[in-house]
Amino acid sequence: MAALQFTLQHTDPSSKARAGHIVTDHGDILTPIFMPVGTVGSVKAVSQQQLKEEINAQIILGNTYHLYLRPGIDVLQKAGGLHQFKGWNRPILTDSGGYQVFSLAGTRKISEEGVLFQSHIDGSRHLFTPESVMDIQRAIGADIIMAFDECPPYPSDYKYAEKSMHLTHRWLDRCFTRFNETPDKYGYTQNLFPIVQGSTYTDLRKASCEYIASKDATGNAIGGLSVGEPDDMLYELCGLCCDNLPAHKPRYLMGVGTPWNILECIALGVDMFDCVMPTRNGRNAMLFTSQGVINIDNKKWESDFSPIDDGIDCHISNHYSKAYLRHLVKSKEILGLTIASVHNLAFYLWLVGEARKHIIEGDFVSWKNEMVPRLQTRL
Ligand code: GUN
Repeated sequence: MAALQFTLQHTDPSSKARAGHIVTDHGDILTPIFMPVGTVGSVKAVSQQQLKEEINAQIILGNTYHLYLRPGIDVLQKAGGLHQFKGWNRPILTDSGGYQVFSLAGTRKISEEGVLFQSHIDGSRHLFTPESVMDIQRAIGADIIMAFDECPPYPSDYKYAEKSMHLTHRWLDRCFTRFNETPDKYGYTQNLFPIVQGSTYTDLRKASCEYIASKDATGNAIGGLSVGEPDDMLYELCGLCCDNLPAHKPRYLMGVGTPWNILECIALGVDMFDCVMPTRNGRNAMLFTSQGVINIDNKKWESDFSPIDDGIDCHISNHYSKAYLRHLVKSKEILGLTIASVHNLAFYLWLVGEARKHIIEGDFVSWKNEMVPRLQTRL
């Protein structure tokens, strides 16, 4: 069993887009890739079978914060880790809880030691430290685990952003120390990815990239983006981070974004993405399609019996009509949530797969420039 390996297969001559190949002990990932989010150990409304057969997800996410609170580490360890627990034998990545503690937990107190927070489930008090978060992620057993970081809000003043970045860097040292002291629990190799922070400040972002790169991890992540900043700022900061992170390691942009955000960030050199948008927006009647955005609640779809999206390769998107899905959503049928979520995820996976094809074929930029306005069209 071996640490993650990344091979760059193609680099686009007209942009910084790359096509790559990641090998993990639970299988291969072709990049650029989108990773469906399965916060509590389930991608909401979507079964593991659908993830494999309909969507062909190559890797999915879980969240340390949620899994630690419920079902808890004892249950996950007894199960033999999250892969066994949920019956998923492909790669998994877990986020560290660094972000969720800030976005979900009630009162929280940040100190040098870590973050004291209250559970959003029952109000109970817990302390996350870089060490405890490594131990929890060892017990969950994801193939890729994330460093414990602080994601500062947008906007943050320079002093706060600088202080926060240095705290994240000190926590990173403690994460690596603990990670290196503890063995893999389940017979396969886990990989720790550090996270760049630095808010909206280019000098801080550069300094953070340099610090993160010095850890020589098997992959690197960019955090603290898509937190309310305008898209042009997201692209500027993402591009700067890509330019300052090693080229021969995968780059993971956390929590981004819309289909057009993803295409623009692939052009800047990002290899891995995750976002709740396809599932969360899908559950709220918003569909992303190869022709543009649909609000399936709208009366205009009442008698539209054309497939949800026949431009992508997914049985559910090709088989069910817009009118039928609208009817399910209006009737609050559970199946409506599943169809909308499976379709949106299949669309995101189709999109990154097409991007990869066009990178390899050499016409990525012209394809992207045609796709971006089309994908944003409100149908
Ligand atoms: N998910 C989206 N953004 C972030 C971030 O900055 N840090 C972590 N840990 N997770 C994220």
